[in-house]
Amino acid sequence: MKTHRKKTLKKMSITRKLMFLLYNIVGRFLPRTTMPYSLGSQAIRRFLIRNYIDSCGENLVVETGALISPNVCIGNNCTIGENCLVRSQVTLGNDVLIAQNVSFISFQHNYERNDVPIHAQGEIFSPIMVGNDVWIGINVVILAGTTIGDHAIVAAGAVVTKGVPAWSVVAGVPAKVIKYRKCENEYIS
Ligand SMILES: CC(C)(COP(=O)(O)OP(=O)(O)OC[C@H]1O[C@@H](n2cnc3c(N)ncnc32)[C@H](O)[C@@H]1OP(=O)(O)O)[C@@H](O)C(=O)NCCC(=O)NCCS
Repeated sequence: MKTHRKKTLKKMSITRKLMFLLYNIVGRFLPRTTMPYSLGSQAIRRFLIRNYIDSCGENLVVETGALISPNVCIGNNCTIGENCLVRSQVTLGNDVLIAQNVSFISFQHNYERNDVPIHAQGEIFSPIMVGNDVWIGINVVILAGTTIGDHAIVAAGAVVTKGVPAWSVVAGVPAKVIKYRKCENEYIS
């Protein structure tokens, strides 16, 4: 992970590095956007993030404490809740609503060898893709290589290990479909 992080940082311009640093030492600790004394925290966080991540749409709202890596793409009208963890190689579509403490973990440690400690076996990164109009509930964990379809809902506390179909509501550990938001006959892709 250290190597991957170093490679990503090396490719970034000085301005992007500075914005990333400012976000991590100041922006991320500013008050919640809904507080009466929020001190422009929403605008400051948005400005810093849009200048260091790979791509960022309009109207991004990021709450206090969220950790967002530079190689992340975010669409329009997205909200990222308090203390979320959005690691490398995550793409969010438009209108994605993410509650508090949601973790996107786009890497796994290799563990095939028995003679070497896991931390020394390297990591595999697999991108995470989130479609449009998706709601991700509080305390959800989304694991590497998963895709969440358009209009889906991930229930509070779920652990997503496989693809989530469009229009579905998934819940549990591992997350399974509990229902669909639309009946078969009104299904839109
Ligand atoms: C996913 C969710 C929207 C479903 O709500 P709903 O449509 O009212 O669904 P229901 O409460 O009727 O639940 C349907 C079934 O799923 C189960 N279920 C609902 N939420 C669940 C969860 N988080 N984990 C596991 N099972 C869950 C229910 O127990 C019920 O099971 P049953 O049919 O065996 O009784 C809601 O449960 C949820 O998790 N909301 C997220 C809240 C949140 O994170 N808010 C933060 C603010 S952004």
